[in-house]
Amino acid sequence: PAKITTQTIVDMKAEGRKISMLTAYDYTMARIIDQAGIDVILVGDSASNVMAGFETTVPMTLDQMIYHASCVVRGVETALVIADLPFMSYQVTSKEALISAGRMMKEAGVHGVKLEGGKPVIKTISKIVEAGIPVMGHLGLTPQSIYKFGTYKVRATEDEEARQLLEDARRLEEAGCFSIVLEKIPAKLARRVTEEISIPTIGIGAGAQCDGQVLVVHDMLGLNKEFNPRFLRRYADMHADMTDAVQSYIRDVKSGDFPSEDEQYG
Ligand code: KIV
Ligand code: NA
Repeated sequence: PAKITTQTIVDMKAEGRKISMLTAYDYTMARIIDQAGIDVILVGDSASNVMAGFETTVPMTLDQMIYHASCVVRGVETALVIADLPFMSYQVTSKEALISAGRMMKEAGVHGVKLEGGKPVIKTISKIVEAGIPVMGHLGLTPQSIYKFGTYKVRATEDEEARQLLEDARRLEEAGCFSIVLEKIPAKLARRVTEEISIPTIGIGAGAQCDGQVLVVHDMLGLNKEFNPRFLRRYADMHADMTDAVQSYIRDVKSGDFPSEDEQYG
């Protein structure tokens, strides 16, 4: 299959074809989901939660994200690979943001970066896009601002925040973003945003009218048991499958069943 580019993603919206996106943080997982035919792989800073075991995405560093992204890129042949810029790698100045985005592209080999927020990051996004680095926006529940929100509850349920989000979406399009993630907002608002901008929206907990959907791969594979938001659909119970496999191995080692005659050298 032909390599997927940011232009492919934009065209998919125009053609009414839905965009599939999943996260990955390592070579093996990236290879599996790329070969399965995913459109976009996001090296999310959710690596902080699912790979490193932190409670928030705040501790993630740019060097750690570059490491994860470089591992993913080596596993991918077809999908578009986008990596999150982590907290404090783009907020201080546009110049620092451009250096961070540039490092991510040069050192990891991703095809674009994602960063969170609206109005405060518009100038920064223009600068990164002008340098030739595609940018994906991210509005709604932006986890890097968790200490400002104080809760992971659904965002923009009030008119003022909803109005602001719609305005931010327009600004992101104008600044040159090739798409926008909408996280945990009312489906009606996500639909409105999707209708009003020409770049694709990719939703997580943002309803069926978005141009695409994204989930954290560990969540949709059922590797986590504790995280149960309304928006999550589990496509496997890998927690149970892996537990069974590990327990079978332990049993076979303890009983002496493993290794067998065929599994040793003469
Ligand atoms: O880090 C992440 O996994 C994300 C997606 C949930 C959009 O930003
Ligand atoms: Na993220």
